Amino acid sequence: MQRLGLALILTLSLLLAACAPAPADEIPPAGFDSLPVGNPARGAELFAERIGGQPTCTSCHSLDGSRNVGPTVQGYGQVAGQRVSGQSAEEYTYESIISPWAHIVPSYGNAMPARYSQVLTPQDTADLIAFMLSN
Ligand code: HEC
Repeated sequence: MQRLGLALILTLSLLLAACAPAPADEIPPAGFDSLPVGNPARGAELFAERIGGQPTCTSCHSLDGSRNVGPTVQGYGQVAGQRVSGQSAEEYTYESIISPWAHIVPSYGNAMPARYSQVLTPQDTADLIAFMLSN
């Protein structure tokens, strides 16, 4: 009887854990291969929005070619595929957002917040990548 009770409690807690929504600041980063199709228009909006209390992308990345804390987005679609040998433009952009320290663009500092991986949903990540590569 005791065993049955324990099994029941275990089953119930597993069910509850599976149903509980993940807290907003603990979204596990989507793997690159499981990203949904990105929407560049939504990505453009997200780029200027504060997500999960993090600074907006536009606070460090200009859209008009001017230098800021980070590189400009202008012309980014042309250079993204050449930043790291063997990495496609999409993979490189994904890694730059999820693990910004993995490759530092020459002449810039390691200043990009590392917490975006915890606050962006897979759809947010895909939309931001699509937006950046459309430039
Ligand atoms: C506090 C400043 C800061 C913020 C905010 C920031 N970044 Fe960055 N980002 C940088 C810096 C500095 C670099 C260059 C150094 C490096 O490679 O990490 C960079 C590099 C990048 C790169 C690679 C650019 C290239 O030309 O190769 C991408 C992609 C990128 N950021 C995307 C984003 C996105 C998307 C956001 C918002 C979700 C964002 N960044 C927010 C500072 C920032």
